Amino acid sequence: MSLDDQKKRAAIAAVDYVKDGMLLGLGTGSTAAHLVRALGEKVRAGLTVQAIPTSEETRELATKEGIELVAPAETTRIDLVIDGADEVDPRKDLIKGGGGALLREKIIASAGTQMIVIADGSKKVSQLGRFPLPVEIDRFSWPLTIQKIRAVLEEAGLAGVGLTLRPGPREAGGGVFRSDGGNYIVDISCARIPDARQLDEALQAIPGVIETGLFIDMADIVIFGTDDGVDIMD
Ligand code: A5P
Repeated sequence: MSLDDQKKRAAIAAVDYVKDGMLLGLGTGSTAAHLVRALGEKVRAGLTVQAIPTSEETRELATKEGIELVAPAETTRIDLVIDGADEVDPRKDLIKGGGGALLREKIIASAGTQMIVIADGSKKVSQLGRFPLPVEIDRFSWPLTIQKIRAVLEEAGLAGVGLTLRPGPREAGGGVFRSDGGNYIVDISCARIPDARQLDEALQAIPGVIETGLFIDMADIVIFGTDDGVDIMD
């Protein structure tokens, strides 16, 4: 079974947690896209939900699927957030942001009453860090912010790790990647993150850092698609 089939299995299993009348937070990425399509089917079969998308990409797909959307500024309540992840550790802490939507994803994840993460089996790790950690930064004087990030990494015992300003997609003319909010993203190749909470706090204390891709204590349930079905961590 392909990893994409595993993503689809996890997404379909997550739809079972959705109840009539819920206000949902919809994640971003290929696994979240499977979720949006599966949810669209349920909506066409009579399920009544409203949703807030975490990216323009998800907004477009959800609209196409006929899912009723609520403007983010129009509600302060989110019942259930369902999103993908780039890495999940045994504490259900996550690295997210491979798709560049980490800021909006984190705003929604932190506001949801419950968060379900959906992923293929390759995302399960014993320690976070193999996947390059995305950090969203303001464009103003960005080299200064990167310098401060390097200093924080050194203090965390991660001196000399690779740090890349994410390039824009070739089809969009290259340049530097810009998030939906217009910010830059730095990808940090930590290899391993000994203390994810501490690193998250130290990075967030830098004025030019807008958000990190470390999602600590946010996931309530993780559903991994497997070759045989699903593996649920709760
Ligand atoms: C988007 O910014 C990310 O946080 C995604 O949730 C994450 O990259 C997982 O993506 P896939 O579902 O495409 O693997």
